[in-house]
Amino acid sequence: MLKDVAMTGDFSWRGLTRNLFRRLGPESGRRDREPLTYIRAAEIPAPGGPALPGFQRTASDQPNPAYAEGFAASRAKLLNAYAPTRPVTDPRLFAGRTGIVKALIHAIEEQRLHVVIYGERGVGKTSLLHLLSQAAKDARYLVAYIDCSQRSEFDETFRALASHIPLMFHGAYGPTSIQSERGDTLVSLLGPQPMTVGTAVDALARIEGTRVLLILDDFDQSDSEDFRNKIAEFLKSLSDQAVHVQALIAGVSAELAELVGHVPSLHRHVLAMQIPRMTAGEVRDVIARGEAVGDVRFDQEAVRAIIAACTGLPYLAKLLGYRAALAALQDGRRTITANDVGASVQEAIDELRETVPRHAQLRIDELTERGQLPVMGALARAAQSTGGWFTTEDIATALGDDPTLLRDATAVVQDLAQRNILNETQDDAHGDAFRFTAPALPDYLSLLVAKSRSG
Ligand SMILES: Nc1ncnc2c1ncn2[C@@H]1O[C@H](COP(=O)(O)OP(=O)(O)OP(=O)(O)O)[C@@H](O)[C@H]1O
Ligand SMILES: [Mg+2]
Repeated sequence: MLKDVAMTGDFSWRGLTRNLFRRLGPESGRRDREPLTYIRAAEIPAPGGPALPGFQRTASDQPNPAYAEGFAASRAKLLNAYAPTRPVTDPRLFAGRTGIVKALIHAIEEQRLHVVIYGERGVGKTSLLHLLSQAAKDARYLVAYIDCSQRSEFDETFRALASHIPLMFHGAYGPTSIQSERGDTLVSLLGPQPMTVGTAVDALARIEGTRVLLILDDFDQSDSEDFRNKIAEFLKSLSDQAVHVQALIAGVSAELAELVGHVPSLHRHVLAMQIPRMTAGEVRDVIARGEAVGDVRFDQEAVRAIIAACTGLPYLAKLLGYRAALAALQDGRRTITANDVGASVQEAIDELRETVPRHAQLRIDELTERGQLPVMGALARAAQSTGGWFTTEDIATALGDDPTLLRDATAVVQDLAQRNILNETQDDAHGDAFRFTAPALPDYLSLLVAKSRSG
């Protein structure tokens, strides 16, 4: 199943993001993107009232600063506060998750466990990793943060880890050696031959006087089973030999937790934790923390509308909050209302709809008219919860095991599979598995459900 999930590649949130956002400059990191829309600077009036129309460019064809600067400043503030694809790195903007953070720190610090966290796209895994990485650095851990890719292999991953470990922590060198003073790292001791689990653990055996945290984000992006198996063996050897290196691994798939199953008794050394969707209180906190930074205010109705529409996903809370806030600014207001949020939900629906094949749009419209939107919403939720392929068991969980809805769901699944709106496959471990053929469909359906609930 791990392989299946990795194969889905550009699923769900990424599909949404690709359509709605473009990348910032190179300094902004892999996921940092900003909206394509709303770059018509002259549409943004000065705060306090609608602006009179004016020329947008000077005679020398430069953007007119009178329009561009005020807008750019407001927009930059909003992006800092609510950029939906930018993981939180500023602790002031990190909302909720207190119990989870405490439990993870306890597992790393007191129990000396490796940790695996998994959860849906956009639920906040990378943000959590950043927070824990900072907390570990504050406690003087050496932290190696590695983003895994489809092509990740053990050798390069270990070398990246070794490059974070200064030789001053190596028993044979110590802080006063020439090599340490030169700033050499463990990498300088590794030969050209590919690292095996054995040689990697040997290389770490003489590290003293520090603890190392190896963070592997998007672990299930890798296509390589060999990579995953070697990392599992590596974790086991580190624990067995009491090497002071612990791993913190994040990915979408619940099957990640099965990583530990491949290596006998590894599970005793690993805490696997699912990161759930946020509670209403946590979403409220996400919005509130952005208000000061974004210099805007969401009224109570607007907050409620975002809580209802985002269904606990901070990604979506920020996407809707950002769009609603920009719409309010365009209207000369800094207070955001439920109407602004409603408009931002509709906008996101319209944009996603354009990316869905026409026959799928029409079939979904027909099934909606026949009262099947809640069932399709449950399919979307099942897809989001696994990051791709989902089984009838996932659907039942999303439906809350209601037998009538389950019967409807079976018919709807068949209907969608016949029309190529769902792909179907056989999975050895789980029986039939399904996946939406258009990546944007789960998000599109979820927002349709949210809109229908808000009346
Ligand atoms: N605790 C939090 N407080 C405030 N905002 C959050 C929090 N967690 C996540 N977010 C916001 O939600 C969005 C998604 O977060 P993040 O990138 O951490 O999720 P993810 O689970 O790593 O997503 P993916 O599966 O796509 O990698 C970002 O805009 C981030 O700022
Ligand atoms: Mg992430």
